[in-house]
Amino acid sequence: MSENYKEAFEKTRLAGTIAAGALDEVAKIAIPGLRTDKIDKLCYEFLGDHGAYSAPLFYRGFPKSCCTSTNHVVCHGIPSDKILKDGDIVNVDVTAFKDGWHGDTSRTFEIGEVSVKAKKLVRTTYEAMMKAIKIVKEDIHLGDIGSAIQKHVEAEGFSVVQDFCGHGIGQLFHKEPNVLHYGQKGTGEKIKAGMIFTIEPMINLGKYETKTLNDGWTAVTKDKSLSAQFEHTIGVTKDGCEIFTLSGN
Ligand code: MF3
Ligand code: CO
Ligand code: CO
Repeated sequence: MSENYKEAFEKTRLAGTIAAGALDEVAKIAIPGLRTDKIDKLCYEFLGDHGAYSAPLFYRGFPKSCCTSTNHVVCHGIPSDKILKDGDIVNVDVTAFKDGWHGDTSRTFEIGEVSVKAKKLVRTTYEAMMKAIKIVKEDIHLGDIGSAIQKHVEAEGFSVVQDFCGHGIGQLFHKEPNVLHYGQKGTGEKIKAGMIFTIEPMINLGKYETKTLNDGWTAVTKDKSLSAQFEHTIGVTKDGCEIFTLSGN
């Protein structure tokens, strides 16, 4: 690996592993009856215990240490006294800031027994993210990533959210490039070894449109259909990529 991005990869791997570790702990308590602010507390404490800070906490006024996005909430749900019930799906999005670098990851958890449709939505969203990650290497186009996701998702009858995207990440939480989760092969900028960015598709059971609630954060599907999301932070290499936010389980 080239010396110039060795440090960036090492630091992002460290932050990413801590963020993924927080989600591994969330997985253990994700059962009916859990309040979403318990998830927030767990994340806050887990990050602190590992010498990291939550990047979302106070980011542009965001009040909590993670996002908890339930059912028709697409992203940026705010942890609260809301109680998760049997059949819900909830995305938990954690970003660790450690030694000056960020690691950003999310997973959608199934609470108790969820419907066949919800299960298929969650599985398809995960598959779409992983299919995109598998094609990443130096010199592919950003549009190749969006195309891989959109093809898989639409073949299953679901839709790709267009109002939010993946992003470059490093010493800044959000930076260039924007990584769209839809698009055309061969379009957009070519990616280079050493680049670090997230892939974080939000996929809706119904239509793709979203709207933001009056709290200024919570994004929901316009048609109230279910929405799922997964996110990894990855680093591009000559012949592939490294996932920095792998589960330790
Ligand atoms: N973690 C989210 C992302 O994937 C951003 C959350 S910003 C917040 O980019 F302020 F809502 F927490
Ligand atoms: Co992100
Ligand atoms: Co995130």
